Amino acid sequence: MRVSVVGAGYVGLVTGVCLAEKGHQVICVDVDRTKIEKIKRGVSPIHEEGLADLLEKNVNRSIRATTDLCQGVIDTDVTLVAVGTPFDGQEIDLANVKEACGQIGQALREKQTYHLVAIKSTVVPGTTDQVVRPILERASGKKAGIEFGLGVNPEFLTEGVAVRDFMLPDRIVLGGIDQKSLDVLEEVYSAFDGVPRIRTNNKTAEMIKYTSNALLATMISFANEIGNLGAALGDIDVVDVMHAIHVNNYLSAQLPDGHRFTAPITNFLEAGCGFGGSCLPKDVRALAAHGKTAGQPMLLLDAVMKVNALQHQQVVALLKKHFSTLDGVRIAVLGLAFKPDTDDMRESPAIPIINTLLAEGAIIQAYDPVANHEARQIFGERITLLDSLNEAISNVVAIVLITRWDEFRQIPELLTDLNPQPVFIDGRRMLDKGSIAKYEGIGL
Ligand code: NAD
Ligand code: UGA
Repeated sequence: MRVSVVGAGYVGLVTGVCLAEKGHQVICVDVDRTKIEKIKRGVSPIHEEGLADLLEKNVNRSIRATTDLCQGVIDTDVTLVAVGTPFDGQEIDLANVKEACGQIGQALREKQTYHLVAIKSTVVPGTTDQVVRPILERASGKKAGIEFGLGVNPEFLTEGVAVRDFMLPDRIVLGGIDQKSLDVLEEVYSAFDGVPRIRTNNKTAEMIKYTSNALLATMISFANEIGNLGAALGDIDVVDVMHAIHVNNYLSAQLPDGHRFTAPITNFLEAGCGFGGSCLPKDVRALAAHGKTAGQPMLLLDAVMKVNALQHQQVVALLKKHFSTLDGVRIAVLGLAFKPDTDDMRESPAIPIINTLLAEGAIIQAYDPVANHEARQIFGERITLLDSLNEAISNVVAIVLITRWDEFRQIPELLTDLNPQPVFIDGRRMLDKGSIAKYEGIGL
């Protein structure tokens, strides 16, 4: 099939490159010239494991790139829209979707053959039918369901393992205004044998994406709230509490060889210093705002965000158990990215934690294996960024761990060389509490 993908960011580029690898002829479209020039040269503008190799292999054969959206649509049979959908403080910001769809509509005006448009961006339920459809119909002068098809195809990939997630999906969700739209969209994924398909209408497909992310966020805030209560009551360790929950029969199963298989979703049932990233916070906020507008306030999701917004204070409170004032106290902050294996710092809990510590007068030296560059853009000269874990934990009286980088497993051993030992605050409950002398952790 000939497929155009509008928006060549994390989702769009991974989608385009993977569909090309699966045998389609793909055109990636973006307004960002620098990105497009790189893709044309076979250079990936983002770091994702396996992406550079697949792009290099397929560029100029089954994948092309352009800033000319109209040509991209005319030269293909299907267009997937994967532009950004940020939260503007009040509600989802659909400006990029509207702009892209207006141009797609104009291109459709010039097309003689049937074309399918599918929204891959995360958009609140109703967007495709109530916002995108009229834009496409007005700009094209054509009728959806007759001269062109309209569908929704949400994406569930995770940054860091995006190529693997796309190539080996757990489910493929297809929404459509009619059977023909669904059938054409299904053809795009014909090479993905054995993957469960959920065929439904557009609004339901949109809801599935938010439900997935809202569930993850809810589980994290739930674990954090339980952890905070345990810490307040004393003599309770949230790690043991959650471990007992992870191995119950609802979340794990016994294999024929006697071992227990614990579902990966239990990763989200662990107490820590809060969730961040470019998706969970913005999606939960957008769905809650959409519910409010629809006259159905989302009380639970509002609470999920409230718990998350306060969670970084737990780290500060643990520090204050040891220091009457943080003024002039030198603290190492380990891990700045919102999660391991990425340099992405969008909505990372590291940001409010460091800002609070700085406001209290602390002196911060920080280290992240890959996000130091991002951190410099955010904090400038207000913190010292160091190039190694060893340097970062030297000459400090306290250490705060914020991101679960694998490298941090060696901390207990490194600390044994230090005298006196600094206070250690485990913001992710990553390390064994018995392995560090002055250990403090969330939910302990
Ligand atoms: P991104 O910011 O990395 O990429 C978006 C791209 O769209 C940018 O390159 C931008 O230049 C381009 N763009 C904006 N307006 C355009 C236009 N009018 N025409 C052509 N190109 C345009 O965003 P992303 O992370 O890829 O997210 C895209 C969507 O997918 C969002 O709705 C997001 O919620 C969703 N999503 C993201 C992830 C993820 O892990 N990043 C996972 C699942 C779903
Ligand atoms: C998330 C979802 O996991 C993907 O399925 C989805 O496709 C994507 O959003 C999206 O819609 O864009 P992502 O944001 O990349 O992916 O990362 P996650 O692994 O979900 O982590 C999100 C945040 O939750 C991180 O800050 C992480 O540290 C935090 N987290 C995770 C916890 O605080 N506790 C946990 O137990 C697990």
